[in-house]
Amino acid sequence: MNQTIKTLRIEHRNIAYLLDLLERQTDSIEKSGDPDLSLIVEIVDYLRSFPDMYHHPKEDLVLRRLRERATGFDEKFFKLDDDHEHLSDELHSFSKKVSALLTDPSPMTRSDFILSARSFINREREHMAMEERFFLPAAERWLTDEDWNEIDKVVGRFPDPMAALDSGQRFIRINKHLESGRNTGAAYSDETSAPV
Ligand SMILES: [Fe+2]
Ligand SMILES: [Fe+2]
Repeated sequence: MNQTIKTLRIEHRNIAYLLDLLERQTDSIEKSGDPDLSLIVEIVDYLRSFPDMYHHPKEDLVLRRLRERATGFDEKFFKLDDDHEHLSDELHSFSKKVSALLTDPSPMTRSDFILSARSFINREREHMAMEERFFLPAAERWLTDEDWNEIDKVVGRFPDPMAALDSGQRFIRINKHLESGRNTGAAYSDETSAPV
């Protein structure tokens, strides 16, 4: 497996792990438990920063090359650009529900949050599942070694996400969660993926 595909799969595992954490916090809100609001804020902050800046651009690079190479390319499976835009919009509107929850924990606000959280989580999971099932295998099938060398070179020039996104303190709790996820095999990371 080439490095870019490996990195994208690792990043999917990390994002999936964070969605599970977010879902558990959402369950807690639904059951009138004691949700960890600061963790929710950190996850949403991370999801608003990392994918758009570091994950989607790598996929866009692969997609561009795939469009050139694949014959009988079925666009309907690969509307990644549109999907990324919709996910970004949905996350933006979900983040407003998070802000509302911080200042007004009324039943109405909680129920708005729950609806929005579940919708975003499902959509993000569906998106990644499509990429894992169709997009990445198609890229592996159609792209040549030369394509991958070029893509790997560009991806290799991406800055270290945690260093670029801040000092590493901004996502300190997420890093701790992912570290424990890595220890149990539920999340992965390496030097080319975030967080590190
Ligand atoms: Fe994507
Ligand atoms: Fe992805």
